[in-house]
Amino acid sequence: MPSPFEGKRVLITGGSSGIGAGLAEGFASAGAVVGIAARRHDRLAGVLERCRATSPGSAMWAVDLNEPDAVDRLASEAVDALGGVDILINNAGIPKRRHLSRLDITTVESVMAINYLSPVRLTLALLPAMLEQGSGHVAWISSVAAPLSSPGEAAYSASKAAVSVFAETMAVDLWDSGVGVSVVYPGVVDTELFTLPDNDPFTGDVESIPVAEAVTTIMDGVAAGALSIYVPAYFAEFAAQKAQDVDRFLAGTAEYVRSRTGRG
Ligand SMILES: NC(=O)c1ccc[n+]([C@@H]2O[C@H](COP(=O)([O-])OP(=O)(O)OC[C@H]3O[C@@H](n4cnc5c(N)ncnc54)[C@H](OP(=O)(O)O)[C@@H]3O)[C@@H](O)[C@H]2O)c1
Repeated sequence: MPSPFEGKRVLITGGSSGIGAGLAEGFASAGAVVGIAARRHDRLAGVLERCRATSPGSAMWAVDLNEPDAVDRLASEAVDALGGVDILINNAGIPKRRHLSRLDITTVESVMAINYLSPVRLTLALLPAMLEQGSGHVAWISSVAAPLSSPGEAAYSASKAAVSVFAETMAVDLWDSGVGVSVVYPGVVDTELFTLPDNDPFTGDVESIPVAEAVTTIMDGVAAGALSIYVPAYFAEFAAQKAQDVDRFLAGTAEYVRSRTGRG
């Protein structure tokens, strides 16, 4: 069966490691021309070399997506280098595991800037061309922290909730435009996200899945045009349980945290 991504031009932020690097290699092997962006030049170069083995036209940009000008430059340079962008994967992001009692507003703002404002800015920059050509797809890597309100992650969960709601509203506004939207809800994927400094230790006991499994689920979901993609799929059940009875779900979460840490 021919690949649905053959010849597609795919721009992936946060392509230097983890899920973004895995997606870059996955899309390149599936026949797409891939553009990757992140800060670490050396790590991007390694990923790009592997992408070019199957997709020689692939390209990279070493940029700090916290800088609005850099986001705008990335949008226009990616269009020039790739000849356009058919699929945008808003994947770059940072964790923030910090108990609310130790959270400050500067931290909240910085998480919102990279996890929410930056991908919104990039999307708005690339959207007019997608709308003009009447086709395109934007996939947003949110997190199960958004629907589940993960304990000790208020800043992070809220940034991902903003991403999810923006993306869902975008899907409604653009329903008949030919531009599709996917919101991806990973659970725990085995990446460097859990070892980054300036975060509380990760204390969850959810089994992690390998990047390759997440990549397959995300690519299958995007190929199918799925609006919500849970990774793994069983997290959709938890989200539904919470939506059904928020009070009960949050009481259960608080009880779980107390039993594990002795803290509410
Ligand atoms: N792993 C999980 O269990 C999990 C669960 C739910 C959601 N997610 C989401 O999945 C996405 C990818 O995370 P990951 O798990 O693959 O972790 P990761 O390996 O740490 O990847 C994060 C990526 O974002 C990039 N990035 C961070 N800040 C940036 C900045 N200011 N400018 C440009 N790029 C930046 C990083 O590149 P540089 O450091 O090179 O800039 C890296 O490529 C994130 O949005 C994360 O919130 C992950």
